[in-house]
Amino acid sequence: MIYFALAKGRLAEESAGLLARCGVDTAVLYEETRKLVLTSADGRYGFLLVKPSDVPVYVEAGVADLGIVGKDTLIEENRDLYEMLDLGFGECRMCIAGYPNRRDVLTNAHLRVATKYVNTAKRLYAERGEDAEIIALHGSIELAPVTGLADVIFDVVQTGSTLKANGLVVLEEVFTGITARLVANKVSLKLNRELLPLIERIKECIQ
Ligand code: PRP
Repeated sequence: MIYFALAKGRLAEESAGLLARCGVDTAVLYEETRKLVLTSADGRYGFLLVKPSDVPVYVEAGVADLGIVGKDTLIEENRDLYEMLDLGFGECRMCIAGYPNRRDVLTNAHLRVATKYVNTAKRLYAERGEDAEIIALHGSIELAPVTGLADVIFDVVQTGSTLKANGLVVLEEVFTGITARLVANKVSLKLNRELLPLIERIKECIQ
């Protein structure tokens, strides 16, 4: 049996679609249920549906053999696992964003940055030798500059529509090419003989 940790949210639909195209029976993922552990009808696959930031946790621990999660989350979590494939979908950028007419805040001696990528933001500003107060939020990050909680945000931008709807713009692109990735547990990859053939099938599917 192969256990997958799948990120709920914006990558969920395409993750399930890709696995189905690769011959994984994913019908159970479309059932109306509050169950968090799902098993395919043929008993070959288990699916753990978790928050994106928890995917690397389950895969590193070996509770899940494989996971599908955004590169943004992998950068943030920095876990001990193998990144096997760039799946290409869910592309976005990690950006610093704020008000277009307030670019001057970037030179603030004490910049307030709201983000859900706290580790990445801390690393970024430390590497630059800039003093920044990192304000940890869990969602609706764009609200922070709008309400005055922060000067700027550090967040993923996909279509740009959330920024636009809130009068914000990208001030700096920090990481581009942020896409969904297939990750594997290091021990599972050695011990579970079904993993490599499946990873090969997924590789062929995305080509
Ligand atoms: C993400 C991100 C932005 C938005 C960007 O939030 O934090 O808010 O998507 O996408 P866009 O450029 O296409 O508008 P998400 O929808 O994952 O929800 P959250 O606010 O709960 O984090």
